[in-house]
Amino acid sequence: METDVVASAADIAGRLGETGYLCDDALATVAFLALRMQRPLLLEGEPGTGKTALAEAVADALDLPLVRLQCYEGIDATQALYDWDFPRQILHLRALEAAGASGDGVDVQEAEKSLYDERFLLARPVLAALQQSPAVLLVDEVDRADDEFEAFLLEVLSTYQVSIPELGTVAAATPPVVVLTSNRTRELHDALKRRCLYHWIDHPGLEREVQIVRSRAPEVSEELTRQVVGVVQQLREIGLQKPPGVAETLDWARALHHLGTATLDLETSARTLGALVKYREDSQRVQQALDQMLRA
Ligand SMILES: Nc1ncnc2c1ncn2[C@@H]1O[C@H](COP(=O)(O)OP(=O)(O)OP(=O)(O)O)[C@@H](O)[C@H]1O
Ligand SMILES: [Mg+2]
Repeated sequence: METDVVASAADIAGRLGETGYLCDDALATVAFLALRMQRPLLLEGEPGTGKTALAEAVADALDLPLVRLQCYEGIDATQALYDWDFPRQILHLRALEAAGASGDGVDVQEAEKSLYDERFLLARPVLAALQQSPAVLLVDEVDRADDEFEAFLLEVLSTYQVSIPELGTVAAATPPVVVLTSNRTRELHDALKRRCLYHWIDHPGLEREVQIVRSRAPEVSEELTRQVVGVVQQLREIGLQKPPGVAETLDWARALHHLGTATLDLETSARTLGALVKYREDSQRVQQALDQMLRA
C-alpha cells in the first residue's frame, strides 16, 4: 500500500484505531503530515506513552513491513547499515582456491570482486528499510546513540540512499516512513530535529486511557479498568521518580485480572504493586497514596 492513500488526519486515526492504537487529534495530524510530506516523525515523551507502539501501528495500518533499529550507546553506522558475511566469503574463497588447484585458472581480480557480491551482504536495519521500500523504519530511542550516529542518520534521512563502496549506491524506490523515538535523556541536535516533524506524547487523559486499556486488554472488566486507570492517573500527580506509563497501567490491569479481582481493594493492590512501580524509592509513596485512595 502506498502512503498517499491516507486521505486525512481522521483517516489515519481511524486506521490506527482499527489496529488497537488510539491517538488524539494532534498526534493524528502530525502523523498524517509526516506521511504526506514524506518527513520523519520524531516522537518524544515519558516512558510508556505509546511512542514505539505508534510506529508498529502505522506499519500495521498501512500494511507495510516494519524495520526496527534499536539505538544504544556506542552504536555505529556499520551496525545500522550493513556487514559482509565473513564466514561465507571465506567459504567462497576456499571454493575458488579448490577450483584453481584443479587447473581452471582463477583470475585474482575477478576472485576478489566476487567476494563483494550482493549475496554476501548482510543488510542491517537502515539498508533493509531502503531495500524493502515502501517500509516503516523505526529508529527507537535515538537519544541513546551519540552525536556521530545522529549525523549519520541525518544524512540517510536527507537522501534516503546509502553508498556501499564495493557495490555502489542503494536508494529507496519510495522513501520509508520514518518514526524516531526519544526519551529525552539528552537533547537531539537541531539539524536532525529540523529534518523531522515533532510531537510530544503526553500521558493520556482518563477517558482515553480507559479506551486504550479496553482496546488492549478487553478481558479486563470495564469496572476494574476504570478503577485502575483512576488510581494510576492520580499516582502520576504525586511526584514519583518514575510515574507509571500506559504500559504499567496495562500490566497492572492484567495482573489484577489474572488474580480474579473484581474490584480494586487495598490488599490486592499492595500485592500487585510490582506490575505498577519499578522503583524501590517509589513503592512506599505509592503505598501511602493507595492507602488514602482506597481505604475509604
Ligand atoms: N495510544 C495508545 N493506544 C494503544 N496502546 C497504547 C497507546 N499508548 C500506549 N499503548 C500501549 O502501551 C504500551 C507501551 O507503549 P510503548 O512501548 O509504545 O511506549 P514507549 O513510549 O515507546 O515507551 P518507552 O519510552 O519506555 O520505550 C504498549 O503495550 C502500547 O501498546
Ligand atoms: Mg519505546
